[in-house]
Amino acid sequence: MSFLSDLKILWHMSVSPIRGKTHSERLESFYSKQAQGYDDFRRRLLQGRKEMWDALTIPEGATAVDMGGGTGANLEFLGDRISHLKQLHLVDLSGSLLKVAQQRIEARGWANVKTVEADATTWMPPEPVDIVTFSYSLTMIPDWFAAIDQAKKMLKPGGTIGIVDFYVARKYPEAGRARHSWMTSTFWPNWFRFDNVFPSPDHVPYLHKHFEPIHFSEHRARIPYMLFSRVPYYVFIGKKPMK
Ligand SMILES: C[S@@+](CC[C@H](N)C(=O)[O-])C[C@H]1O[C@@H](n2cnc3c(N)ncnc32)[C@H](O)[C@@H]1O
Repeated sequence: MSFLSDLKILWHMSVSPIRGKTHSERLESFYSKQAQGYDDFRRRLLQGRKEMWDALTIPEGATAVDMGGGTGANLEFLGDRISHLKQLHLVDLSGSLLKVAQQRIEARGWANVKTVEADATTWMPPEPVDIVTFSYSLTMIPDWFAAIDQAKKMLKPGGTIGIVDFYVARKYPEAGRARHSWMTSTFWPNWFRFDNVFPSPDHVPYLHKHFEPIHFSEHRARIPYMLFSRVPYYVFIGKKPMK
């Protein structure tokens, strides 16, 4: 970690404009210049990823898909359990981030992990899978409903979905769920908008509607260099209903 490397990442996150006509061109415009310094900064920005993987049961021989898997840094949180998987497809639309993922896969000797350059809203694995994960990727997928629907389609009945991401609460959340002030609900979506990241009040209700919840927790995280407020994020683990 160095201040200069942070400064470069912060420049791309807060000043440098994102260009491109399509979603994948905009992703490349955003990520191509920060792919190398990505992991260190995101380790501090994207919290709760280890908790998400820890809360997931990984049966021996399971097949999995990590949607919007980026550089594959997320998979480090799996530790030795990665060897339990028969196959993991790491799907992402950014070629620059997948290049870093490929280097990591080779360096770690993860023969069971394969990168796929594709759109999470349309890609299908060759066979139904046991686990689908989204780690801070849903907020970057404009048609996130389609991404969740697609995940549900590719899961075996009883298969597991694991998600960790930023969000904001609905104005009137369900009983027992976190409430967010007007400031929180307004500030964070507007702040993240610049980077084409869209914290939504609808992820959590949509996930609860389509999957049987096994684990759901709501948290707040500090953002590097922002002292005055903490951003809300959630961890959701659910099962696809048997029918
Ligand atoms: C904030 S990064 C998170 C990366 C990684 N999951 C992690 O935890 O470090 C969001 C990722 O979603 C990817 N992404 C955005 N839209 C996508 C789409 N439609 N299909 C596949 N990947 C997408 C981006 O390229 C990026 O790698």
